[in-house]
Order: sequence, then structure tokens, then C-alpha cells
Amino acid sequence: MKMPGELAEAFNEQISMELASSTAYLQMSAYFEAQNLTGMASWMRMQSEEEREHAIRFFEFVVDRGNTVRVGGLDAPQAEFANPEQVFETALEQEQAVTKAIHDLYRLATDHGDLGSFPFLQSFIQEQNEEEATVETILERVRLAGNESSAILLLDSELGTRT
Ligand SMILES: [Fe+2]
Ligand SMILES: [Fe+2]
Repeated sequence: MKMPGELAEAFNEQISMELASSTAYLQMSAYFEAQNLTGMASWMRMQSEEEREHAIRFFEFVVDRGNTVRVGGLDAPQAEFANPEQVFETALEQEQAVTKAIHDLYRLATDHGDLGSFPFLQSFIQEQNEEEATVETILERVRLAGNESSAILLLDSELGTRT
């Protein structure tokens, strides 16, 4: 069953937001490559791919519901960062913004009584809990490492093991 227009539009905006997230993480990967922190760079590229998968899951959901997909334009993401801590701070803010958007989407689906989108959105609400927790832990560990390059390099190796 088709979603009401307003809800379909909000789902379309979420596709763009996930793509924007993907692009932002890719740019963060480029920052870490330039710093020779190749483990963090690789972690960011995987995160970028994960966000693209989220966009595709939203895309397929909109198509399955019989609504039309419109992919929006993307602004260039932030490219300059003072240090790794600032990168992960930005990543956390981004995840929090996505969480808020998905919560808003869920509230909108509730307003429209669109039961068909509840399970899908609930899986993303859970996904966001995990995403925020993961980024928050890394941010705290980057803060613990501070300016000690040996600690940063160790964390870099650890993040580089993500598969
Ligand atoms: Fe996402
Ligand atoms: Fe995410």
C-alpha cells in the first residue's frame, strides 16, 4: 500500500541524509589518509559503505511501497579538521542528527497511522542506538589517547581491524 505523500517525501529526505552521511564519512577517511592514520581511514571507508547500504535500504522500502524515489542533491561535507578528536565529534553529531531524523520519521508514520513502516523504522531506531554507542566509545578512546602518538597509533591499528 502506498504511503501518504508527506510520509513518502520524508522517506525520500532520509535517503539523501544517509547518502550525505556516506559522503561525510568518505571525506573523513580522506582526512585520516592525509594524516597517515590508515586504520582510522579504513574504518571511515567501511562506515561510508554502511551508510550507503542504509540509503539503499530506504530506497528499496520506498519502491516496495509503490512510491516514487527522488534522490536529492548533496552539499560537500566538512573536509578540514583540527585533529582526530574533532573528526569523531563531528561523526557523533552526525549520528545524533540521523537519530533525530529517524525518530521524527517514526512520529510522522504514527501520525499517519502507517503501520507498514513501523517494523522498518524500528530496525533503524535500534541501528542508531548501536551507531551512536560505537562512535561515542571511539571518541572517548581518542580523548583518552590525547596527544600521545603511541596511543593514537595503537587505536589506529585497532580500528584498522574492522571488517
Ligand atoms: Fe545510517
Ligand atoms: Fe550511521
